[in-house]
Amino acid sequence: MAALLSCPRRHPSVHLLILTLFIASLLPILDGLELGGDGLYREILRDETVLRLKELGKLSSPNTALLYVNQISDGEGYLERTFLSPASIRASHVIISWMKDAGLTTWIDQMGNIHGRFEPTNSTKEALLIGSHMDTVIDAGMYDGSLGIICAISALKVLKLTGKLQRLTRPVEVIAFSDEEGVRFQTTFLGSAAVAGTLPESILRVSDKSGTTVQDVLKLNSFEATAAALGQAKYSPESVGSYVEVHMEQGPVLEALRYPLGVVKGIAGQTRLKVIINGSQGHAGTVPMKLRRDPMVAAAELVLTLETLCKQPNKFLTYDEECGCFTEESLAGLVCTVGELLTWPSASNVIPGQVNFTVDIRAMDDKVRETIVTSFSRLVLQRCDDRLVDCTVEKKHAASATPCDAELTSQLERAARSTLSSMTTMTSSPAAAAVPVLMSGAGHDAMAMARLTKVGMLFVRCRRGVSHSPEESVLDDDVWAAGLALVNFVDQNAVAPATTPETATAEVAAES
Ligand SMILES: *[C@@H]1O[C@H](CO)[C@@H](O)[C@H](O)[C@H]1NC(C)=O
Ligand SMILES: *[C@@H]1O[C@H](CO)[C@@H](O)[C@H](O)[C@H]1NC(C)=O
Ligand SMILES: *[C@@H]1O[C@H](CO)[C@@H](O)[C@H](O)[C@H]1NC(C)=O
Ligand SMILES: [Zn+2]
Repeated sequence: MAALLSCPRRHPSVHLLILTLFIASLLPILDGLELGGDGLYREILRDETVLRLKELGKLSSPNTALLYVNQISDGEGYLERTFLSPASIRASHVIISWMKDAGLTTWIDQMGNIHGRFEPTNSTKEALLIGSHMDTVIDAGMYDGSLGIICAISALKVLKLTGKLQRLTRPVEVIAFSDEEGVRFQTTFLGSAAVAGTLPESILRVSDKSGTTVQDVLKLNSFEATAAALGQAKYSPESVGSYVEVHMEQGPVLEALRYPLGVVKGIAGQTRLKVIINGSQGHAGTVPMKLRRDPMVAAAELVLTLETLCKQPNKFLTYDEECGCFTEESLAGLVCTVGELLTWPSASNVIPGQVNFTVDIRAMDDKVRETIVTSFSRLVLQRCDDRLVDCTVEKKHAASATPCDAELTSQLERAARSTLSSMTTMTSSPAAAAVPVLMSGAGHDAMAMARLTKVGMLFVRCRRGVSHSPEESVLDDDVWAAGLALVNFVDQNAVAPATTPETATAEVAAES
């Protein structure tokens, strides 16, 4: 699939040509819209979407690191767009103009989220929300977050141009969340948690490194910045039917499977621990090996213990009564990482007195994660006992897993499958079989939105699994596939069938 979707587009087959002529004869007005005539809307879903990704990717704060080192470079290619920064305000204006171009009614809520909505007349149904985040990390890539926003806007633009927006059976709304990464205030999901209504009032008093609070920043940008105003950003669960998000995978699985798209089964739960090991500090030359209480070797042993625990959990744990083990399925996505290790006093000729390290444990199955946490904590105390060092394990953070809604996931799977087989026809390669089902090890706005409604996610293949880096890369044809999958998804689930070709034409005419 990798080769096939990235290779240049060939001439449409005779079938497609006939189909194209047939559609063209039914809807003559579409002729002038340059939709490609093949139902794949390449000009909008690929070419324009990619241009817009690049445009948004240029809206960045200056690279302050360059100022410090007095570099002459203009920071070309640098991307940093944190919550309500001037760059993010510029991005908001651009996103609003694209939403309007797609036929949507737009507004900004009290947390700086951008909304673009189409409200069908007489519909009393719950809304379908489609979104992702417009903020970025520092020195970011241009796809994380932006891809999901722009694909959604482009998909709705296609629905507008094909007259389908007028036939929506429920309100459809694109949301560009103001903050997901949490770079500025060290707290994630400011935007989506406000919409889900789970932001605590105390959030207004949280401050960034310069001492500016969330409230200050909101006021500076002419928002009300009160608890009551935050409450206005909240959606009532009765008004929302589901939330769908397109996001780059940020991992290497789809690339390895040679698939452009995958559906997400759920977002992993996470526990963060801090382990502190006290030993006895001493001279590296004079304390004999037998008399040492060395926290560094204890830490080394514990890092390896954690790795074994997560690579071969069945060696350590029993859970399922029948097999006396964890099932293969329940272990999905179990990953454990030691990412930070600090020693005191950190000198080459000193046996350390103290070593601290962090542990990050993630899994789809909350029970698996909790069992790993308990077992690791027990092993820490055992090993430390053996080595005569004093250890403590602190739990710093725990969040349970977010399963995606099974029905939404199968609807997204169907949309992705029809997308891939139609694109495959274009490039005359074998049809795609099963769309991969992945789980997400990273957090997403869908996690916050799951507190409000059913959620579903579509992942898009990226190069070498790289994200949070300027090296982030998604093939133009994969961007196209993601947009087309969204078109198919909305079409299959929220568009009433055209009654007759005449009405379809009339609607398009009314729209244009
Ligand atoms: C909306 O409902 C009203 C009253 O039932 C009806 O007259 C009108 O034609 C409907 N509009 C559409 C677009 O269906
Ligand atoms: C380990 O953590 C403790 C408690 O937070 C802290 O006081 C100590 O300085 C840390 N030690 C190192 C080596 O970072
Ligand atoms: C480790 O040493 C620190 C002082 O450096 C002390 O506060 C802490 O209680 C000790 N922890 C253990 C588990 O002995
Ligand atoms: Zn993201």
